[in-house]
Amino acid sequence: MAMQVANIPEIAADPGRKETYKGLELIRHAPCGAEILNVDLTRPLGQDLFDAVLEVWHQARVIVFRDQNLGPDDQLRFGRRVGELSIIHTEKFAGEDPAIMYISNVKEDGEFVHALPVGEMMFHIDQCYTPNPAKATILYAMELPKTGGNTLFADQVAAYDALDTETKARIEGLRALNVYDYDAGATHTASEVSPDAPRHAHLIARTHPVTGEKALFVNRLMTRSINGLAEAESRQLLEQLFDHQENPAFVYEHRWRLGDLLMWDNRATLHARRDFNAQETRLMRRLTVLGETPA
Ligand code: SIN
Repeated sequence: MAMQVANIPEIAADPGRKETYKGLELIRHAPCGAEILNVDLTRPLGQDLFDAVLEVWHQARVIVFRDQNLGPDDQLRFGRRVGELSIIHTEKFAGEDPAIMYISNVKEDGEFVHALPVGEMMFHIDQCYTPNPAKATILYAMELPKTGGNTLFADQVAAYDALDTETKARIEGLRALNVYDYDAGATHTASEVSPDAPRHAHLIARTHPVTGEKALFVNRLMTRSINGLAEAESRQLLEQLFDHQENPAFVYEHRWRLGDLLMWDNRATLHARRDFNAQETRLMRRLTVLGETPA
């Protein structure tokens, strides 16, 4: 039975640890996540400060710039500095720039006009069903419900490290097939996927190209089978990995504030969304940055 996000207990808000790092004022959270308090992204960052931001991102896997007031151009400028932006292929979801996508429950003429409008969303990795999944996703909070809609980030380096030796040896070199059928299962695993749904097999344990750390690279929403294993064995091993990698011990729960600009590392985390009141607007502006072929 698929684990619903609602079954995951709320992760207690952790006051974090204040620190100054190469000119950045930070609050670091456990097991992952760091708030950056003294950067205004409407202004271009000097190279040293930008390098420090990337270092903190690689260390913390999730960074959030608090109290921003960003137009699309500010977000695009920051995103392009991180790397080449992905183009939104579903034309109806593209914003004012082909790299911008809005996630919201806004309706026009009774119809949702943006992506992923309502409800909880199972743990997943952005674009893991493509040959070069996004390395970064950059989400900006524009309108929020009074409660709910938190985004959960599960540290997959910590999850890999915590596996027993036998499981590490068992998954070494194995590849798993990731499929995403937006129409049949945008937020929860689809029981059947269309043969046309995009898909790609990737290593179950990948190595981060910058930090050299190993991370689990499967997820409950999109990973359907393990190449070369019989169906029952593949299902049993995947369920074991899903349950392990979603353990609350690896999770930072982000409680959004207006003006948060959050960037997560898809090569080292899974993310999931909690439910929220569908009658209140939740509007986020999203960019993704292209990544490398996982190795
Ligand atoms: C996403 O998975 O990209 C959406 C996350 C969110 O809406 O919090």
